[in-house]
Amino acid sequence: MRLDKFLAESAIGSRKKVREYIKEGSVKVNGEVITEPAIEINENFDVVEYINEIVVYTGKVYYMFHKPAGCITAKTDAVNKTVFDFFDNTSMKGVFHVGRLDKDTEGLLLLTNDGEFEHKIMHPKKHVEKTYFFWALGSLDEADKNQLEQGICIGQDKEIMTKPAKIEVDKFGMYKELKHKITIDNITSIASMHPNQPVVSGYLTISEGRKHQVKRMLKAVGCYVVYLKRISIGGLTLDETLEKGSHRHLTESEILKVLE
Ligand code: URA
Repeated sequence: MRLDKFLAESAIGSRKKVREYIKEGSVKVNGEVITEPAIEINENFDVVEYINEIVVYTGKVYYMFHKPAGCITAKTDAVNKTVFDFFDNTSMKGVFHVGRLDKDTEGLLLLTNDGEFEHKIMHPKKHVEKTYFFWALGSLDEADKNQLEQGICIGQDKEIMTKPAKIEVDKFGMYKELKHKITIDNITSIASMHPNQPVVSGYLTISEGRKHQVKRMLKAVGCYVVYLKRISIGGLTLDETLEKGSHRHLTESEILKVLE
């Protein structure tokens, strides 16, 4: 394996950064300073040091995490529980979350130590689709759906329009007529105060990742989101057998599916 790949996959830094470290003489292989990033090493036998510390090869890791509501998508937080607090027994050195979900959003979150993988998912030009299931107070008519599909202005000032999205309405009607089908606490507690309140559920698929994007898009057409769950990224769907707050490794085929 190439020396730069070995270091990048051992959470020393991105491929670009580790090449710099190698060229500046911070890396030794079997006690000798090596300044050539492309040199081949054997990860099982050769001893690699970065600033005189032995580097332990971890390899690339890819986790699917079922995020519960109430935790922050961040490495640390002074007040709240973070998604990393759910990985108690696992070494998370060099692992980061791919994108963010709001504190009250549930569902599919990926974590990895592979910067290129993250870049492919997050870069706006790659157009990887993310699908969210929502419950909202309000209703969606054909004109609203057309706006969401074509692009809508979600900010003040001159914020550019959203890219075309896909919207599929699942259930809609007055809360009092639908309440027997709704098991989500949030909506039950808010809408039950207004039984004649129209409510709507559905799926919104977007290919960008602006802050609070789904909530802001639905707000722009008069809907107030009370429940949000990401159910897929690219061709990868959340494994519903994974309980909220738990995680597992992605399979080889799932890693490829994300980028479909
Ligand atoms: N859009 C939102 O509004 N919130 C999320 O957590 C993700 C997408």
